[in-house]
Amino acid sequence: MPNPRASALRQSPIRAMTQRCRELGGVNMGQGICDTPPPRLLLDAVPTALAAGHNTYSRYDGVAPLREALTDKLAAYNGLHYDPETEVLVTLGSTGAFAAVLGAHFEAGDALLLLEPYYGYHRNLAELAGLELRCVAIEGADGALDLAALEAAAAGARGIVVNSPNNPSGRILSPAELDAIAAVCARHDLLCIADEIYEYFLYDGRAHHSMATRPGMRERTFTLGGYSKTYSITGWRIGYCAAPAALAAPVGLVADLYTACAPTPLQHAVAAAIRDLPPDYYEELARSHQAQRDQFCAALKQAGLPPRVPQGAYYVLADVAALGCTTAAAAAQTLLEQAGIAAIPGSAFYTQGRGEHLLRFCFGKTQADLDRACERLAQWARAGS
Ligand SMILES: Cc1ncc(COP(=O)(O)O)c(C=O)c1O
Repeated sequence: MPNPRASALRQSPIRAMTQRCRELGGVNMGQGICDTPPPRLLLDAVPTALAAGHNTYSRYDGVAPLREALTDKLAAYNGLHYDPETEVLVTLGSTGAFAAVLGAHFEAGDALLLLEPYYGYHRNLAELAGLELRCVAIEGADGALDLAALEAAAAGARGIVVNSPNNPSGRILSPAELDAIAAVCARHDLLCIADEIYEYFLYDGRAHHSMATRPGMRERTFTLGGYSKTYSITGWRIGYCAAPAALAAPVGLVADLYTACAPTPLQHAVAAAIRDLPPDYYEELARSHQAQRDQFCAALKQAGLPPRVPQGAYYVLADVAALGCTTAAAAAQTLLEQAGIAAIPGSAFYTQGRGEHLLRFCFGKTQADLDRACERLAQWARAGS
């Protein structure tokens, strides 16, 4: 018999929708695979790394050039200062970092706070680890983080996951909200796992604020990030965890047991890209995704599926009550069959039946796919009116 917690696992609705979309020849706006091309400089660095003989296991916490490039980036972009020898770990994607932090610092039965809507892997990995999940709305009744609920949920908990910019809502927590979370962490002595993988996907002039910069947070925060999204290399599996040495050391040991190391030649290529890509690469990334957000949100609105316009990341939750389905899974199925567009049921990101009127779309797509999706939405709306 498998571990009962593993027996409870189901294929992610995201992967299932991708499969169904392929069968029906639809436009896949579901999975966040980001199929825009990676930067040329990054791709060119791969054969160089292979030819230089970087083909064996690396140190379990990553090659020195990448740890050093990440350390410089964390200082320059995030305002965070770490030692590349002991406080910055390269991991198998930020997913590898998240799993290793749970493995190193959490025991079965510990309570973990998630801001809802949450990223499914956070919930599922926490459940697999036997943690007790406590969800708090990132958008309470007035659209702001529900601080009273957060305070109540924090009593006796071991940690909190803060994902800003947020997948799936695109919500960016304000500095004041981050400070309020910091105060809760201090009062209840919580560890904080800050998943900042969308740190460059910021719209309408917003800036990124790292959780670990907030008062008292450096000593209790694991800053997780990676290059899957920033460089459109979800298949490369290059992520990282930065934390004070005493917190980072056990994470590195656990990550070693889980995965030995991240792909060595790809670590070298990512190090070169972090070092050599100019600042406007990141500015253009935000600019082009903001344009795509505006185009897709306008198409959703026109089709009668009002979007919650995201502040960051590259997802949008849309209200699909107009489809007349009782569940989000049925709404996703209906939209795929009628309009040829795959989206993810909102229920994948919420507990207790919330999210049944929502679908999540990923607009981090090639311009051709985005145009096709907008055209299909318009056709579908015309056919229904
Ligand atoms: C919030 C969040 N964290 C982590 C990941 C996965 O990152 P990685 O590819 O670095 O494992 C995703 C991917 O969709 C995500 O949305």
